[in-house]
Amino acid sequence: MAKWFPHIYDIAMKPLEKMRFERIRANLVRQAQGKVLEIGFGTGANFHYYQDVERVDAIEPNPAMSKQANKRIQKTHTPIYTYQAKAEELPFEDNRFDTIVATLVFCTIPDPEKALQEIRRTCKVGAKILLFEHVKMDQKMMGKTQEALTPVWRKMCDGCHLNRDTLKLVKQSGLEVQKVTSYYGGLFLTIECCNSL
Ligand SMILES: C[S@@+](CC[C@H](N)C(=O)[O-])C[C@H]1O[C@@H](n2cnc3c(N)ncnc32)[C@H](O)[C@@H]1O
Repeated sequence: MAKWFPHIYDIAMKPLEKMRFERIRANLVRQAQGKVLEIGFGTGANFHYYQDVERVDAIEPNPAMSKQANKRIQKTHTPIYTYQAKAEELPFEDNRFDTIVATLVFCTIPDPEKALQEIRRTCKVGAKILLFEHVKMDQKMMGKTQEALTPVWRKMCDGCHLNRDTLKLVKQSGLEVQKVTSYYGGLFLTIECCNSL
C-alpha cells in the first residue's frame, strides 16, 4: 500500500467533493436509518451526513485512514463505533443492521463477492444497502481505457480497480437493486438496494 495515500486522500478529493460528491453523499447517506454499518469508512467523509440513526458501526482495515477520521467522529452527534476489519470478514452477528453504506469502496475490496455475502449475512431482511461507486463504463472505448489503466492505477491508489463492474456484482449477489443513478457519463453510480429474501 502506498504510504502517502491516507495523507493525501482528503486533499485529492476536495475538488470532487466540492463539485458534486458532497450532494451525492448527503442524498444517499441521509436515507440511512436504525442500526447502520458503514464499510471502508476511510477518513470518515460520510460521518456528518448521518441524521437520526440509532448508531453507526463503521469498519476500516487501514489504521492510517481511520486515524484521519477521528476529528470527524468528535464533531458529530451520531454515535459512531469504529473497528479495524475487512468487508470480507465482518465482525458482527447475522441480521443485525437496518442499513449498510459503502462509498467508493467496492473498487478496492480484494474479494467483492465475499463482501456482498457478508453484507447479506449481517443485514436484516428488508434492510437498505446504499452504495456510491465508480465503475467500469458501458461506453466501449472508455471501458477499454479503464482496463488498460487498472494495473498501474491499482499500484498508485491503494488497490483501486478502475474496471470493476460493481453493479453486475451486486445484481449477482441476490440483493434487489431498486434504484441506480448515473453521474459523469456512467463513471459513478449510486446503487440503492434492498435485502429482500
Ligand atoms: C477510496 S477509499 C474511500 C473511503 C470512504 N469510504 C470515502 O467515501 O471517502 C477506499 C477505502 O476502502 C478501504 N478498504 C480497502 N480494502 C477494504 C476491505 N477489504 N474492506 C473494507 N474496506 C476496505 C480502504 O482502506 C479505503 O479506506
